[in-house]
Amino acid sequence: MIKFLDLKKQYIEIKPEIDKVIFDVIENSAFVGGKYVKEFEKNFASYLGVEHAIGVGNGTDALEVALWALDLQKGSEVIVPANTFIATAEAVTRNGLKIRFVDCNKYYQINTKSIEEHINENTSAIIVVHLYGHPANMRKILEIAKKHNLKVIEDCAQAHGASIKWCMENGKYKIQKVGTFGDIGTFSFYPGKNLGAYGDGGAIVTNNKELSEKIRKYINHGRSEKYNHEFEGRNTRLDGMQAAILNIKLKYLDNWLKKRNKIAKRYLNEIKNPKIKLPNIIEDIYHAWHLFVIQVENRDKFRNYMEKKGIQTGIHYPTALPKLKAYKYLKQNCNNFKACKEDEFLVSIPIGEHLENEEINYIINVINSY
Ligand SMILES: Cc1ncc(COP(=O)(O)O)c(C=O)c1O
Repeated sequence: MIKFLDLKKQYIEIKPEIDKVIFDVIENSAFVGGKYVKEFEKNFASYLGVEHAIGVGNGTDALEVALWALDLQKGSEVIVPANTFIATAEAVTRNGLKIRFVDCNKYYQINTKSIEEHINENTSAIIVVHLYGHPANMRKILEIAKKHNLKVIEDCAQAHGASIKWCMENGKYKIQKVGTFGDIGTFSFYPGKNLGAYGDGGAIVTNNKELSEKIRKYINHGRSEKYNHEFEGRNTRLDGMQAAILNIKLKYLDNWLKKRNKIAKRYLNEIKNPKIKLPNIIEDIYHAWHLFVIQVENRDKFRNYMEKKGIQTGIHYPTALPKLKAYKYLKQNCNNFKACKEDEFLVSIPIGEHLENEEINYIINVINSY
């Protein structure tokens, strides 16, 4: 069976380093806070090219804390893409804010026209999701946010290391990683992510010192020193073991991303089957290829065929958020959204550093023979 994800294989490749560091964390009793967390926060910030990175318990908490930190008017509306994991939307509601869904574009990213159509006097922020690892159109989004005085959060749970080639005012180019464009960027280190821990984990990144200090206190019971609580906060921290593991894995991330990009290039060039719609990619970006999502009619039939040929597939996501029971109460009519029409065709095929060349050849052949 060709696995969709093979974390065991990845572990075996880096086993000596991982085993050692787990032992070290135990030896040092550095379970919560401490040097491994500090080191990872420093390395992750430097990898992204951002001033501050703060470890938290998971990517959902990262979003929830980010929205809290921005002090948005209670009851105001936050723009959320219709195709994402529910965590993006949950964070809005849990902060006493209202979700306003917007559509996606042909790259599966938040549609900037749809953003503009849904902005009103009650809108306070936009959550951008770099879905599947493809960077969203940050230039346009930042322009809209500036025009309407909106805060921007980037949900980078699927896009560690993805970047945009950015043309500056002087005509020169720079490469800027996602998570560093808006007011705050959030990450998930859920095990299956491109940079995954061995349990839950997340991070919040920002270039704003004041925000970073406020967040650091909030996630640790409103304190910067033991028992000196300036306000009531909460507890959501990245633990030492996860930080130590992430520190090891961070060194490999760029190589893993290169491998994902190589596989994606092969799929894009070599899958030639009129029944399969391949993903569209914008120029001037570096894709993190967390997921390679195709569209195919009669998805179940295709997935059964793949399964019989020994290839695991996934669906991200089977139901666009506005159509979920959880969001019926919003009564927002999204029937015309592209995201709400195409969800029944989406299939994710295996991509990742675990795949061998023969397996990639086989996947391509099997899809082309469908
Ligand atoms: C786009 C997106 N946002 C947020 C999350 C939430 O992250 P976590 O599972 O670490 O809470 C995920 C994880 O699946 C995600 O894919």
